[in-house]
Amino acid sequence: MSRKFLLLPNFTKALPVLLCSAGLLLVTNQGFAQPVMQAGKLTSLVRTADGIAIETEHAHVALTVFSPGVIRVRMDKKALGADFSYAVIAKPGKTDFQLNELEDILVLKTAALQVKIQKRPFSVRFETPDGILINQDEPGLSNAWIGDEVSSYKTLQEGERFIGLGEKTGNLDRRGSAYTNWNTDAFRYSGETDPLYASIPFYIGIHHGMSYGIFFDNSYQTDFNFGASNKRFSSFSAQGGELDYYFIFQPRVADIIHTYTELTGRMPLPPLWSLGYQQNRWSYYPEAEVMRIAHTLREKKIPADGITLDIHYMDGYRVFTWDKQAFSNPRGMVDKLADLGFKTTVIVDPGIKIDPDYATYVRGMQQNVFLRYADGTPYSGEVWPGWVHFPDFTRAATRAWWQAEVASYAKQGVAGLWNDMNEISTWGQKTPNNILFDYDGHITTHKQGRNVYALQMARASHEGMKQATGERPFILSRSGYAGLQRYAAIWTGDNTADEEHMLLGIRLLNSLGLSGMPFTGMDIGGFTGTPTPGLYARWMQIGAFTPYFRNHAASDSRSSEPWTYGEDVLNISRNYINLRYQLIPYLYSCFYQAATSGMPIMRSLAIDYTHDEQIYSRYYQNQYMFGDAFLVAPFASSKEFGRLYLPQGDWYDLYSDQLEHGRQAKALELHLERLPVYVKAGSIVTTQSLIQSTAQQPDDTLFIHIYHGPQGSSVSYYEDDGKSYDYQNGQYYKRQINFIPEHREIQFGAVEGKHTSKFHKLKILLHGFHDVGSVELDDKTLPVSMHRAGFLGKGDKELNLPGVTIANSAGKITLKY
Ligand code: NOJ
Repeated sequence: MSRKFLLLPNFTKALPVLLCSAGLLLVTNQGFAQPVMQAGKLTSLVRTADGIAIETEHAHVALTVFSPGVIRVRMDKKALGADFSYAVIAKPGKTDFQLNELEDILVLKTAALQVKIQKRPFSVRFETPDGILINQDEPGLSNAWIGDEVSSYKTLQEGERFIGLGEKTGNLDRRGSAYTNWNTDAFRYSGETDPLYASIPFYIGIHHGMSYGIFFDNSYQTDFNFGASNKRFSSFSAQGGELDYYFIFQPRVADIIHTYTELTGRMPLPPLWSLGYQQNRWSYYPEAEVMRIAHTLREKKIPADGITLDIHYMDGYRVFTWDKQAFSNPRGMVDKLADLGFKTTVIVDPGIKIDPDYATYVRGMQQNVFLRYADGTPYSGEVWPGWVHFPDFTRAATRAWWQAEVASYAKQGVAGLWNDMNEISTWGQKTPNNILFDYDGHITTHKQGRNVYALQMARASHEGMKQATGERPFILSRSGYAGLQRYAAIWTGDNTADEEHMLLGIRLLNSLGLSGMPFTGMDIGGFTGTPTPGLYARWMQIGAFTPYFRNHAASDSRSSEPWTYGEDVLNISRNYINLRYQLIPYLYSCFYQAATSGMPIMRSLAIDYTHDEQIYSRYYQNQYMFGDAFLVAPFASSKEFGRLYLPQGDWYDLYSDQLEHGRQAKALELHLERLPVYVKAGSIVTTQSLIQSTAQQPDDTLFIHIYHGPQGSSVSYYEDDGKSYDYQNGQYYKRQINFIPEHREIQFGAVEGKHTSKFHKLKILLHGFHDVGSVELDDKTLPVSMHRAGFLGKGDKELNLPGVTIANSAGKITLKY
C-alpha cells in the first residue's frame, strides 16, 4: 500500500522559542511553556563515507548505512560521543547509496530501502525503494528530549503488530502494551510483571505484509510503548544517553533476526552435553545427596547430562570456595559424576563477601575490582553471604581478575557456570544510582551500567572458562542485555508452579528467540510452589522441546526429580526425555543453524507465518516450531480439550503419522501422556538410538525420517566432537540432505569437513509415502522393508514404516523412490 509523503506545515516556525537560563530549550505552544525539545530545523548536512552527518537547530544527527537494509540513526542534543557499544560487534559494510537533496527533503536510497529526511522540522521516514511506507517519525511528536530523557515516537500503522523485545511478559503481539527495560530480580513474577531480569531493546513491527526491526542500543533504562493508552504512536525512550537505533528492513522476520544477530553476534556452538537433560535443585548437598540423585537417574534409566550445584556447595556463600564438610573432595566428586556421564555446573553470584580471610575478596581489593562510589569507597550491598562488594565487570581489569578466579573451577573439572543474581540483585532491591561503572573507559553511573552488568559478567565467565579449559564452556545467565547470546544461555528465573506460568514461560522463550537469544530455558516444574502431578508431567514434556532443558525447584519446595510424582509421571517424563535424546542429531543441527544464522531453536509461529493473523490469537499464540520440523502445541495439563491451529502446509501427527491439512483450527482431545506435536510435511528429521547421556555413543545408525509433502525441504546435517574448537579448523561433518518430491529423490550431498561421523549406516524411514516398494541407489534397486519405529518408544503405538538402510559413504548419495 502506497502512501504519499506529506510535507508537514512548519510548526516550529510559528512557535516562539526561548532558551531558559539552564540551557534547556523551551518550546512554547499557544502561550504555555513546554519542557519538551525536538530536533528542530535541519541547518547543515554533510555526506560522509557511509552516510550523512546532519546538524539541526537543537540536535546532532548521524545516519549510517550499515548495509542495504540497515540504517543506523544516532542523535543527541550535544555533539555525538565516542561510538561505543557492548551489544553491537558489526561495523558498517561498504554499501552503495544515493543521496538526493530536494527543497524540503533529503532522500537517501539503498538497494533495499529509502529514507526520506524531512528538513523542517527534522524527521525521518523509511520507505521501500518504490515508496511504500514502512515506518515514520510521528509528525507532531517525532524525536524529543525531556531533560535527559530521549524518545522517538513513530506513527502507529493500521493493523500494526509488535513482537519480540526479549524477556517480556504479555502476549505474542505486544500491541496495546508498554514495557520497561531495567534488569530486575523479579522473584515470583506474575503474567503482568515488568521488568524482568534481562533487557533486549529490540522489537519487530509488522504491518501491510511487511516487517521491520528496531534495535535501540541504549543501556539506560529504556521504555517502549506499542500503542498502550494511546492510538497515535509507538515509541521508545531512554533515561539518558543518545537516541541510537538500527532500523532493519528485510523481507521476512527470519531475515530480520539474521541481520540483528549479524549486528549483535550469534551464539557460539555450545558443548553437546548442554543439550541434554539437566537436574537442578536449590540445593543438592552434601556430596552423598548429589551422588544419590546421579545414581537414581541412572538406575531409573532417565537420561541426563547435567547436575547443577546451587549456593549451598559454597563455604558461607563465598564464590569460588566449597563447603569443606559437605564437599570434602570436589574434584573427586566431579570425576565420579563424570564417570557416570554427568557434567557439573556450579552457581556463581557476583557478590563477593567482605571478609579479610577470603582470598578472592583480598585479591579483588588489591586489584581494585569493585564498583565504587564517586568518593572512591567500594559500594557494599547485602545478599546471600551478608555484606558484599560487587565486581565492576564493565572494567577490563576486573574481567581479567574474574577469569583468573574462574580457573579454580576448571581445575576441579567443573564444566558449567551458572551466573545468578546478576541484575544486580541485593536485599532491598535498590542499588544506588550514584555508583560508578568503568564502562570500559567511558566512566558512567549505575543508570547506564546496570543493564549491561550481567552481559559483562557472562563475558568474563565465558572467557575465563574457555581459557582455563580450552573447551567450549557452558554459561547460564539470569540477566543480560542485547548480545548475551555470544556468551551465555539464559533461563527465565524464578517462575511459579502453575499452568499459566508454564504457558507464559513458553512465550518468554519464544520472545527471547525472536530477540537473538536461541539458547533458552525455564525452571521445569516451577521454581516456587508445588505443581500437580499433571502439571509436572506436561511441563516435562514441553521441556523436552525447549533448548535448555532444566528441572529446578526452590529450597522450600518439595523435591522435583522425575520420580517424585509417582510411576505414571515418571513414565511420561522418561518417555519425553528419551525422545529428547533420540532427537539429539536433529537438535544439534538446529543449534548449528542458530550459531550460523541466528535462527532460534524455539520459534514463535510469527517467524514463518508472520502474516497469518490466527497465530496471534490468544488461543494459538503459545504454539511454536521447534527447529524447522516440529510444531508444538502446549496446553495446560488441566484441560481435556484444546484448540489447535495448524498454519499453512500439511502436518503429520508425531505419534500416529495421521496427516492434517493446514490453515485450519481444530478441537483436540487432550491426553496427559501426549503433548500435541506435529511434523511439517516435507520435513527431514534425524534421530539416533537412545542413550543415557551424550557421553555415551549411540548405535552406529543415523535415522533419517522423511515426511512426505509437496514442497520437500533441505537441511544441513551437522556433527563435530561436541566439545572442542577443532570445528573452527575444519573438524566437522556437514552434509546437505534434500528431499525433492518433484524428482522423487532423497539426496545426501557430499560430506564437508574433516570429522568422521558417529554413524556408519543411514536408515531412511519414510512417513506418508504410500506407494514405495523399492528405491534406486546407483542403478541398484534396493527393497524397502517395514520397520517398527515410534516416537515414544517401545510398545507405545509404534509405527510400521517403510524404510531402507544404506552405508554412510562420504560422497553424494541419491536415492530415487
Ligand atoms: C535465585 C535463582 O533464580 C534460583 O534459581 C536459585 O535457586 C536461587 N537464586 C538460589 O541460588
